[in-house]
Amino acid sequence: MNILKRYLKFSLKRSSQVVEGTMAAATQVLPCDSTSIVFSLDDQVAISSPETLAALRTAAACLKDHLPVAFPTETVYGLGAIALNATAASKIFSTKGRPADNPLIVHVSSRRMLQTLLPQNYALSPSYELLIEHFWPGPLTLLFPCDHSQIPDIITAGQPTVAIRMPSHPVARALISVTDAPLAAPSANSSGKPSPTRAEHVVNDLNGKITIILDGGPCEVGLESTVVDGLHEDGNIRILRPGGITVEDIKRVLVNGFSDADTPIPQILVHRRDFSDDALEQAPTTPGMKYRHYSPSVPVTLMRTSNAPPGIEPLSPSAFLEDLKRSIPHSPDTLRVGLLMPSDSILMKSLISNTTFQWHEFPFGLVSEPAIIARRLFDGLLTLEREGVDLILVEEVSEENEGLAIMNRVKKAAGSSQWITIP
Ligand code: TXA
Ligand code: MG
Repeated sequence: MNILKRYLKFSLKRSSQVVEGTMAAATQVLPCDSTSIVFSLDDQVAISSPETLAALRTAAACLKDHLPVAFPTETVYGLGAIALNATAASKIFSTKGRPADNPLIVHVSSRRMLQTLLPQNYALSPSYELLIEHFWPGPLTLLFPCDHSQIPDIITAGQPTVAIRMPSHPVARALISVTDAPLAAPSANSSGKPSPTRAEHVVNDLNGKITIILDGGPCEVGLESTVVDGLHEDGNIRILRPGGITVEDIKRVLVNGFSDADTPIPQILVHRRDFSDDALEQAPTTPGMKYRHYSPSVPVTLMRTSNAPPGIEPLSPSAFLEDLKRSIPHSPDTLRVGLLMPSDSILMKSLISNTTFQWHEFPFGLVSEPAIIARRLFDGLLTLEREGVDLILVEEVSEENEGLAIMNRVKKAAGSSQWITIP
């Protein structure tokens, strides 16, 4: 924390204080106590902390004035605006520098609110019923047919579908409920940067550009929601973006849910692994296909420890470091290298035994704990960037469970990759 503090250009006070920034406008950070927020079974919210209630009401008033508000979700911090108002939603795009053809996810606080957004004659499929029952509220986004009479084109970028999710973070859900309106919210970062998982990350990026950040502490999941398209006639479930709900979780629920049904169990197809789609490749309808994503301002290299494909000769860790020394223009003893590697990584042990470099390890969880690695990935990228490292090395994880989403983000963040032989 001390290292981080040295690099902060402003003091962040966690009690309804204004953050002194280098920019003209001030951003207020309002702490919210998640434990003071309770939802009843019929989706009514009760907030016992007066400070939290006041913060939520202030944020709701801002949203109604068409000013975007940053708020915590269980995945990453979001930058919200009232989804049914095109002027409000347009501020999200201008604040983030987000390309207009990248559609937004709409966040709801209840099934009732979901229903108000759907076309009148639309009925949920059995798959969607099961997924909603098991994973909402939570990090799962579903595509629905868009009711264009209600949802402005700016939200969907003119797509025939709209992406909707119900977040489980009490502050996110309470904000939607107190505002009494669905909120469009991408991650609360400048376009192309890693998504923020702590209020400080939002301050570092958007200070002076937004009025309010609700601080609900660090995000539990750490990677964005899983985006699912279950609207195809074949009934199969297409994963457009792997995320907080794993493919294995979805499969388990569908297999159990369809076991007694006459209809076959839907297949689960992961984009780019199990299917490709020319239209998807051309349109930025899911992250990373058209635009740069998740990249800090320092170079990131993915260290691949799985079997190298034919034609690629892997390097030993020491040969890799020799190459690195040669490729850097300034003296290698000043090179500060950030490491995002599991704490029990054999590769990391081997690298840090070389004392020519200054190593900056970020605590990353064990190889056997992909959920913890997922939680810390963006935090690690942003923290190491702020510590002023010259480059960041991220070790490959197995693409199972949360590992699929981790690798999806890391491949997009990394400008280069290197196959390594583990000693
Ligand atoms: O966890 C999350 O999903 C976070 C939090 C804040 O909820 N939000 C988030 O939003 O990650 P964003 O904008 O960074 O990513 C949403 C992605 C977009 O890249 C977009 O391409 C895709 O969802 N998306 C939105 N609407 C879509 C649609 N109609 N069809 C296909 N993909 C869509
Ligand atoms: Mg994003």
